[in-house]
Amino acid sequence: MESNTRIISVANSKGGVGKSCVSALLAVALAKKKKKKVLIIDCDSQGSITDMYEREREQYGEDKDPAIEVEELTPRKVQTFLKRFGSDYDVIFIDIPRMTDKKKDTATVMLLYNCDSVLVPVVGNEVDVLSSQDFTEILEEAATDKHEMGEEFKFYGFINRRNQRKSNELAEKQMKKGGLKMFKNSLPDLKIFTHPSFYNSIMESAEGERRFEAFFKEFCRKFKV
Ligand SMILES: Nc1ncnc2c1ncn2[C@@H]1O[C@H](COP(=O)(O)OP(=O)(O)OP(=O)(O)O)[C@@H](O)[C@H]1O
Ligand SMILES: [Mg+2]
Repeated sequence: MESNTRIISVANSKGGVGKSCVSALLAVALAKKKKKKVLIIDCDSQGSITDMYEREREQYGEDKDPAIEVEELTPRKVQTFLKRFGSDYDVIFIDIPRMTDKKKDTATVMLLYNCDSVLVPVVGNEVDVLSSQDFTEILEEAATDKHEMGEEFKFYGFINRRNQRKSNELAEKQMKKGGLKMFKNSLPDLKIFTHPSFYNSIMESAEGERRFEAFFKEFCRKFKV
């Protein structure tokens, strides 16, 4: 595997926190704004990324190419796929499913070991925060294992769907205490973020640019893409 391909997961054990949505927003922004060759590997058997991608491809028709590629794979096939095709891309996102039992869900945890960077969406209420703290422990273990093997592994959290200031400040404080370094920029809860396009970057709209740019810049800087 070429070391100059970044392999990133927007991941959390928790469901519905914006893993797939934010992966798509970032992937298309990297392709359109930074001219990167980007792939999303959809490892969620629900196939939400693949469904959205195929639906939009039908809408646009064969004549127009989407900004990124999507590949639906079972977790067991990911490592072999990365060995064979990984170096064809600048950035690969792995979209992981929610975890039902973190201790037993080794297939999903192993997907994270294929990554060099993980971005954890945290939704600011207390229950979500506790679950994200458990997830931080998984990431710390992965970082220790990978560093021992001389491999890079970094992870950061960010507040997604920022709403009430108070609950977010609390969430941020708790996550930091639990060992998760947090982005300075968060993402607001916005209708324009709910259905990312695989053809057009969110930043091609004025509101999208205004509300996404600072977060995107911090992402590029911290993950060196
Ligand atoms: N910043 C945001 N603003 C508004 N809506 C958002 C935002 N982030 C995510 N959503 C919406 O929240 C819902 C859940 O997001 P998404 O499917 O990306 O979460 P997920 O973590 O991948 O879920 P799952 O665990 O089911 O895979 C979606 O309807 C998505 O459009
Ligand atoms: Mg998802």
